[in-house]
Amino acid sequence: MVMKYLTPGPVQLPKAVIHAIARQPHFHRIDEFKEIFKDVIDKLSKVAYGIPIIAPGTGTFAIDMMVYNYVNPNENAVVPIYGEFSERLAESLESRGAKVYRIKWGIGSIPPPDVIEDFCRRISNVKAIAIVHNETSCGTTNRYVEEIQSVADSVGATLLVDSVSAFPAEPIRSRVDVIATASQKAFLAPPGAAILFISKEPSSSHPVPPSMNLQKYLKMLSRNETPYTPPINVIYGLSVSLNYILSIGIEKYHEIHRERAEILYRGIKLKPVPMEHHVRSYTVTAFYTEKPKEIIFELKSLGYIIAGGMGEIRDRSIRIGVMGDITVDDLNKVVEVVNRVADR
Ligand SMILES: Cc1ncc(COP(=O)(O)O)c(C=O)c1O
Repeated sequence: MVMKYLTPGPVQLPKAVIHAIARQPHFHRIDEFKEIFKDVIDKLSKVAYGIPIIAPGTGTFAIDMMVYNYVNPNENAVVPIYGEFSERLAESLESRGAKVYRIKWGIGSIPPPDVIEDFCRRISNVKAIAIVHNETSCGTTNRYVEEIQSVADSVGATLLVDSVSAFPAEPIRSRVDVIATASQKAFLAPPGAAILFISKEPSSSHPVPPSMNLQKYLKMLSRNETPYTPPINVIYGLSVSLNYILSIGIEKYHEIHRERAEILYRGIKLKPVPMEHHVRSYTVTAFYTEKPKEIIFELKSLGYIIAGGMGEIRDRSIRIGVMGDITVDDLNKVVEVVNRVADR
């Protein structure tokens, strides 16, 4: 049976992307590859503000790279916590030696920008505000990114955004200091490329490990190269997937994801984890259920892979991703199976 992935990622890849990656990798120092690399960087430049950086690695690597290049040990960082990935972001900052102030918010909701601003004003000298754009663990999206950038500007901090499971399906429409993301979710490519968009000079004065040193990446970018071997075949995949995303346009791409997610929110008779409509994710949906294992098992037997819960709602929720090469028929089928098993 051919399986379909309605997961938080890696997502179901378009066939054209799979064809593009199945080839002998170029040697990355020759002109033929530099042209492909430049083309992918140019395409990435069209989906967000900031200079795109590609490094070999996962989303976690992109986040560590962001943290290490913008925060020094002992500096103050504020992190609103609304799920597992917010906590991991805080851990990354702590591994850098930063002093992390958590705004403990809880599952299914997002702190509004004024809460973050008040919190920051009570701490002197906040160097970074770090947020998760889409909390994959509970299907909750922070749609205040632009406003939080204004808060960061007003308190003299750098905004660090983990957009691993949102961007570019959930657009960021204005300048944000730093965005960290990865290839295997809404970028429709295999895992292996950590992607950053930087709109601010790297500001860390403390040593950064060479593999994640943005100064080295920026220097080589001017020559259409990377300091070390890039994720070459992932870049072939990104070239094709970015053609598709750009041909649709970012707003339409967003709309497609919103419509797909709405099919699940409307059809599934389980309670969504996000508490209010405006924080519901359009890339990874999450629902409470007493029968996560049964639902996942039944869907798998019919050819659909979805994900279980994470963190404190691990054993009482499911997560269904809507990114990737999936159809409305797939979503309707999933709705029917989830409701059937839940009613049993
Ligand atoms: C919001 C978020 N941040 C970070 C990560 C970590 O990405 P990776 O597993 O590629 O390291 C994920 C992965 O699902 C994620 O969803």
